[in-house]
Amino acid sequence: MSKARVVVVGNEKGGAGKSTIAIHLTTALAWQDARVAVIDLDLRQQSLGHFLASRRKWLEASGASAPMPAEFKLGDQPARFADEAADAGVSRFAEILAEARARADFIVIDTPGGDTALSRAAHAAADLIVTPMNDSFVDFDLLGSVDPVTLDLGKPSIYAETVWEARKQRAVTDGGRIDWVVLRNRLAVTEARNRKRLDERIEALSRRVGFRVGPGLRDRVIYRELFPFGLTVADLSPAIRPVAVSLAHVAARQELRSLVQALDLDLSAQPLTATAA
Ligand SMILES: Nc1ncnc2c1ncn2[C@@H]1O[C@H](COP(=O)(O)OP(=O)(O)O)[C@@H](O)[C@H]1O
Ligand SMILES: [Mg+2]
Repeated sequence: MSKARVVVVGNEKGGAGKSTIAIHLTTALAWQDARVAVIDLDLRQQSLGHFLASRRKWLEASGASAPMPAEFKLGDQPARFADEAADAGVSRFAEILAEARARADFIVIDTPGGDTALSRAAHAAADLIVTPMNDSFVDFDLLGSVDPVTLDLGKPSIYAETVWEARKQRAVTDGGRIDWVVLRNRLAVTEARNRKRLDERIEALSRRVGFRVGPGLRDRVIYRELFPFGLTVADLSPAIRPVAVSLAHVAARQELRSLVQALDLDLSAQPLTATAA
């Protein structure tokens, strides 16, 4: 039996930070000397796929060396598995997942915003689901409802139900259990009042539907500015430095490291050391 851990980054909300989290986890894990495979199930946007293609080109051009995760693709034209060919997409996904399991320690899967058959299949195969959400009641609405008058927590809503279904399916298929971590993304330094209210609702919901609350990521330019190079803050070193390094990068690496630890994905005794000397 393969022991590959399947990490699915999911949230039906678009723009929550799924692809951002997926590329950061992928690179952070790859630098831990783990064998990392990725599967991009956002058939239209292919952010993770584009990131890896840019990474390959940038590394070739710069002559620098950095770990290159293995990408497992549904096909050359993934978009053709959208909509009418969804069933074919789900069986193709099972095939590439099996291939990835045989060759990797971690499999990071990025999913689309919205509810698709492929996304559900990925959720049901997960050992760990990571859900980024923006620091906003608009994003919370997909996890649970909130009473408009009292702001009391109502019942779990659509995305929480998707995870619930995935957990049921996983339990039936192989008796496995799915760990679920929700984390706030793009935190601003301001907005403390709204955040406190949201914090309380998230804590209450976490107990009710069974997720852990992970450490959030601040809104930082560095989380998006390295994307065109196919790099993240986890890659920065004296040899890999496409932008000027600042103290904010050190803080970002620390945030990323805390996240990897909270997700129980931290393999190495060696911490990711900051390079902004
Ligand atoms: N922590 C962050 N700091 C700065 N920008 C971010 C952060 N997280 C996400 N973004 C930006 O927000 C937008 C949406 O993020 P993305 O990862 O594409 O979301 P999703 O994959 O859930 O649709 C992108 O422009 C991305 O660069
Ligand atoms: Mg995305």
